Amino acid sequence: MTYSLITGASKGIGKAIAYELAAQGRNLILVARSEDLLEKLAKELSGRKINVKYLATDLLDEDAAKLLFDWMEIQNLNVDTLINNAGFGQYGKFMDNPIEKHMQVMHLNMDAMVTMAYEFLKRTDGNQRRYILNTVSTAAFQPVPYMAIYSATKSFMLSFSRALRYEVRPQNVYVTALCPGATESEFSSSAGIYKLAEKNARFYMTSESVAKAGVNGLWKNKSVVIPGLMNKLSTIAVNLTPQDLATAMSANIFKNN
Ligand SMILES: NC(=O)c1ccc[n+]([C@@H]2O[C@H](COP(=O)([O-])OP(=O)(O)OC[C@H]3O[C@@H](n4cnc5c(N)ncnc54)[C@H](OP(=O)(O)O)[C@@H]3O)[C@@H](O)[C@H]2O)c1
Repeated sequence: MTYSLITGASKGIGKAIAYELAAQGRNLILVARSEDLLEKLAKELSGRKINVKYLATDLLDEDAAKLLFDWMEIQNLNVDTLINNAGFGQYGKFMDNPIEKHMQVMHLNMDAMVTMAYEFLKRTDGNQRRYILNTVSTAAFQPVPYMAIYSATKSFMLSFSRALRYEVRPQNVYVTALCPGATESEFSSSAGIYKLAEKNARFYMTSESVAKAGVNGLWKNKSVVIPGLMNKLSTIAVNLTPQDLATAMSANIFKNN
């Protein structure tokens, strides 16, 4: 029996990916910090004739990824799909936020994601096809002033995903980077993006449509998935714009929050 492991499964895009994979009959392992939310979701999804396990863990803890994979090994859970989705950001000028907050964003979005991929691939022998879906962001495509650390971590994730995809393909592993734009979830409120989120709410995609695009792209072996026409067009525009100008344009969007 094989499982898909989803980090950040308690809310937003990760929860929507759980529903999407459950609808496809896949067994799930749900990971996040909120045990109550995971338990509730596991109960809901178990009604769909799939096996659902969950583990409440803080991926900011050192050794969290290793302990998680050890926990799965003890129970003989064979994971063929890793969804690296847990992540967060912090709005504000670089010097207006405490360094500890910046470190947490970097640790969760980069270190924890890399460690999860490492522990997953360590247990991969090439005989079974395996998949990694990393939830990145359109913030990966240009620097974003007032979200400088967040956008830099997402650029890291995108570059890492693309390079890893190339390296692990001979081992029968497929890697996809999911790059959503603004999406309805708890992301904006946890990042402290309030006015901007309210003003642009009509442009936000739902977590469900982002999840569907990501999962479809994963099975179709896409390198990068950008859900939604607006996001695709704005990414093309950014790629055609000189970087300093693209940075100034994103600063203009983010400065009035
Ligand atoms: N929403 C957007 O506009 C948007 C756009 C582009 C990319 N993204 C990316 O999409 C991913 C999912 O975000 P979302 O929009 O769904 O936001 P969300 O609703 O805030 O969900 C974030 C998820 O990550 C989990 N998480 C946060 N810190 C964690 C930690 N230390 N250890 C374990 N789990 C942790 C949260 O669960 P607990 O709180 O229960 O731990 C939650 O399940 C993130 O990587 C984000 O960067 C979001």
